[in-house]
Amino acid sequence: MELRPGVHLFPAHLARPAQEELLGEVRAMVAAAPLLRPEMPGTGRPFSVRMTNGGPLGWVSDRKGYRYQPTHPGTGAPWPPIPARLLRLWEEVADWPVPPDACLVNFYDETARLGLHQDRDEEDLLAPVLSVSLGDEAVFRLGGLERGDPTRSLRLRSGDVLVLGGAGRLCFHGVDRILPGSSTLLPKGGRINLTLRRVRPH
Ligand code: SIN
Ligand code: FE2
Repeated sequence: MELRPGVHLFPAHLARPAQEELLGEVRAMVAAAPLLRPEMPGTGRPFSVRMTNGGPLGWVSDRKGYRYQPTHPGTGAPWPPIPARLLRLWEEVADWPVPPDACLVNFYDETARLGLHQDRDEEDLLAPVLSVSLGDEAVFRLGGLERGDPTRSLRLRSGDVLVLGGAGRLCFHGVDRILPGSSTLLPKGGRINLTLRRVRPH
């Protein structure tokens, strides 16, 4: 389903058993690389979303700014590998010749949200961004290429895959809120979003 040029939604792409297996893999990633609470560059204001990463590079944000780095800022260890299932998913739907080198894991509790933004910290701004949703539904906001462009609201449900590529790679997007109790995947509720990106040009 093409939502706007270059923005493709694959509703319920992962069936429940695949979601459960992926959740187990994400839990193992979080055990190795505990969730962090990023801070806004400059002000140090904490994000409501908690994050960690897998892969050669991970996205971090603190008072010094946004960046990709090869290690977890708390443990100093390299990020755990990107689960093979996600690499296969990228091959299947991303339509890009090289694998992702970063997998951001976002965890939203029932009060978390993410303001409207573009993903543009990558050196390669042509490779698509692929995201997978698990757990409670998100009220997702999708805009255009300029901050002031009209936006639309859509639900991202557990198992949905969204690809921002081509003419949609730099679309503004954000998460207005989570709908608590809308999924039974996470026993304590909440939402996980996994974002695969290619940071370094090939
Ligand atoms: C993000 O833009 O980093 C995450 C989007 C989402 O949670 O669906
Ligand atoms: Fe984003």
